Amino acid sequence: MKEPITVSITGAAGQIGYAILFRIASGFVFGEEQPVNLRLIEIEPGLPALKGVVMELEDCAFPLLNEVVATTDLDEGFKGANWAFLIGSVPRKAGMERADLLGINGKIFTGQGQAIARSASKDVRVLVVGNPCNTNALIAMNNAEGVPNDRFFAMTRLDENRAKSQLAAKAGVHNSDVTNLCIWGNHSATQYPDFTNAKIKGRPVTEVITDRDWLEGEFIKTVQQRGAAIINARGASSAASAANAAMDTVKSLINPTPEGDWYSVAVCSDGSYGIEKGLIVSMPIRTKDDGSWEVVQGVPVNDFSREKIDATVNELKEERDAVKDLIPA
Ligand code: NAD
Ligand code: LMR
Repeated sequence: MKEPITVSITGAAGQIGYAILFRIASGFVFGEEQPVNLRLIEIEPGLPALKGVVMELEDCAFPLLNEVVATTDLDEGFKGANWAFLIGSVPRKAGMERADLLGINGKIFTGQGQAIARSASKDVRVLVVGNPCNTNALIAMNNAEGVPNDRFFAMTRLDENRAKSQLAAKAGVHNSDVTNLCIWGNHSATQYPDFTNAKIKGRPVTEVITDRDWLEGEFIKTVQQRGAAIINARGASSAASAANAAMDTVKSLINPTPEGDWYSVAVCSDGSYGIEKGLIVSMPIRTKDDGSWEVVQGVPVNDFSREKIDATVNELKEERDAVKDLIPA
């Protein structure tokens, strides 16, 4: 058996927490040979529910689950973390945009970034799910002194999965036939699901789906508004699909990407595609054979795409400016 890896999860007693813990403990993410320690972080009011979740984890008798710690203490929670899922935060309600949560949630990520820097393993990688996730990741990254910027990610995989599912349904193919789907920008209503470079069974989507009005209109809008549609239907924000996307993200980051394909995750911009350096922006990413990731270069950006990318990046700049007090100079 390998040495256990340590996975820290904030908001572990919440909806997404409940949908993710058991699958991580079962080996779905890190593999059936990889034992895991779970360090579960909650705020005080979440502790009673978390106690119940821990009892359920015990009752699963997972062969790969080595140790479970439940805590409100950030340093204890991030101690030795190889992976940190930052989920804990308030979800939006019907009628809100995700950025409306910045004032409530943004400050959570200063202390968490600092504690990660103090207490996590030197190889820690951090996936921010709590909204608005791009800017929360920006706050955590800038408060985690000494942790390299390329370890911070914000989740746009749910948007990618939603976009693939919409394209597959329209074309009458299986989800897995859709590849090269990049979500550009912010996990928000300005995100740009780039159909111009996506493929269905290796052919450009625009050759398979010839209804350009649908692609430029209803398709983009459906993906941009899917989170709100779920809140309206369920009375609560997406949870099982969000947990699934978080696990997909980590699996993509730790396994080499199939030749020619890419996936979406928001990373710290290095200036590629003319996007301002230092912002946390979703773009086409691939994982190399050595386990490191890179921005896929040379993806064509036509005038339509440029306008959409600029709009979503501009929104990220506005969000960054709104939280400048949480970002050390
Ligand atoms: P939830 O309210 O069910 O659970 C959140 C949990 O976080 C609660 O148990 C709460 O006690 C805990 N919490 C709050 N503040 C905390 C803190 N400072 N430290 C630790 N724990 C804390 O919410 P949920 O449905 O699980 O959603 C969590 C977040 O994920 C929300 O911000 C939501 O908007 C976001 N989300 C993001 C995506 C995405 O694609 N990026 C998708 C779905 C949901
Ligand atoms: C989603 O996309 O489902 C989540 O970000 C929740 C939300 O507020 O839309």
